[in-house]
Amino acid sequence: MVNYPPPPYKIKMVEPINLIPREKREEALKRANYNLFNLMADEIYLDFLTDSGTGAMSQTQWSAMMLGDETYANARSFLRFKKTIEEFTGLPEVIPAHQGRAAENVLFGHLLKDKAGSWVVSNQSFDTTVGHIMYNGAKPVDIVIEEGKDPQKVLPFKGNMDTAKLQSILENDADKVAVITLVLTNNAGGGQPVSMENIKQVSELAKNYGKIFALDIARVVENAYFIQQRESGYKNKSLKEIVREICTSADAVWMSAKKDAYVNIGGFIALRDSQLADKLRERLILFEGFPTYGGLAGRDLEAIATGLQEAVEGETVAHRVQQVGYLIERLNEEGIPVVLPPGGHAAFIDAKAMLPHIPPEQFPAQALACHLYLEGGIRSVEIGSLMFGRHEEGKFIPAPMELVRLAIPRRVYTKAHFDYVVDICKQLKEKADEIKGMKITEEPELLRHFTCKLTPIS
Ligand code: F0G
Repeated sequence: MVNYPPPPYKIKMVEPINLIPREKREEALKRANYNLFNLMADEIYLDFLTDSGTGAMSQTQWSAMMLGDETYANARSFLRFKKTIEEFTGLPEVIPAHQGRAAENVLFGHLLKDKAGSWVVSNQSFDTTVGHIMYNGAKPVDIVIEEGKDPQKVLPFKGNMDTAKLQSILENDADKVAVITLVLTNNAGGGQPVSMENIKQVSELAKNYGKIFALDIARVVENAYFIQQRESGYKNKSLKEIVREICTSADAVWMSAKKDAYVNIGGFIALRDSQLADKLRERLILFEGFPTYGGLAGRDLEAIATGLQEAVEGETVAHRVQQVGYLIERLNEEGIPVVLPPGGHAAFIDAKAMLPHIPPEQFPAQALACHLYLEGGIRSVEIGSLMFGRHEEGKFIPAPMELVRLAIPRRVYTKAHFDYVVDICKQLKEKADEIKGMKITEEPELLRHFTCKLTPIS
């Protein structure tokens, strides 16, 4: 049996959680219209909805917040933030934003301006990125390697982009391509990492065709850890060196700091080109705030700076990734179909394999996520056809995989919590054939999974 790694921290403060009775959970789910985003915090026992902004900060981060300088323009905290991000990324222009999608608004709002119909080619853009691309009239084109869509295939870098496909797109349709991106790690595809070799190849192709290459580095430290562990030539390089090597391969990076910077809110863009940076700052002032705070308080800038420094030091990320790996390996040992090999931030249950009787258009992963809540008060999130499926010319196009993501908040839960999740999943597996598909009863135009209403198909 897989071992649980001893944590490199101890608990200083606790927050009570409570499992409400089954009848209450049934009522809550019905009231939530079978959309887990609508559940209230007090209705949830273990919350694996997201690893974004849900982590526990270190004592050093909390104390750094007390040094937050709230000067409107050019605060001391901004200078520290800027210097830390310059060192972290190796890129000289630093633009703060209040979270990842705010950075996407600034970046894609500018890069896709007057480019309706153009393409943003990626390994697999995540939901808010897809939203921003479409909002700007462009089209997301995802070309993750074929193995990246096979939950059972064990490969070290399943988040890689198919570079032969990229080459062919650039040879035949270069005019249509507005931006090339890579998401590190590939959140929508099981938190799978991208290799340094792949990053360099994509960078080279982008350069040859004069295309902007931007990296979504929400989980870049976890990705760097996998490169250190799995890619030849990186064993003796520090995480700091690897992160810099990744970021300097691109023209620009954007980060939701709510993940690998261990903070509850924040984000940024970093880039090389000062003229482009000035253009982005014009949009920043309009949507986020003055270029030295970008929607954040001085104390947030301090917490991010300390969080980024700590993320690439010591055992922080090694423990994090091993903890996630423990849950995935334990589920796998119990015969629960999960995406393998373990990725960086979440366990992904393969709902297509666990509920083969439910077709993708009846959202098997959403059905499973609802039952995880009913069975154990566990909140997860669907990453399948509810999030990424669409209709084109009246035809239903399913997502590449139907996954239930259990995203692990950083430094929040203990081994006993993970063992409880495994027990609940085992119980559900016994009753899997009783679980019914779902249908949508009301949905918005964009990013429907956040707010749509559903009901079980009887
Ligand atoms: N890019 C990636 C890869 C993400 O995972 C997210 C958010 C964003 C961009 C947007 O960042 O939330 O700060 O605006 N992902 C969260 C999740 C919400 O649950 O995976 P944000």
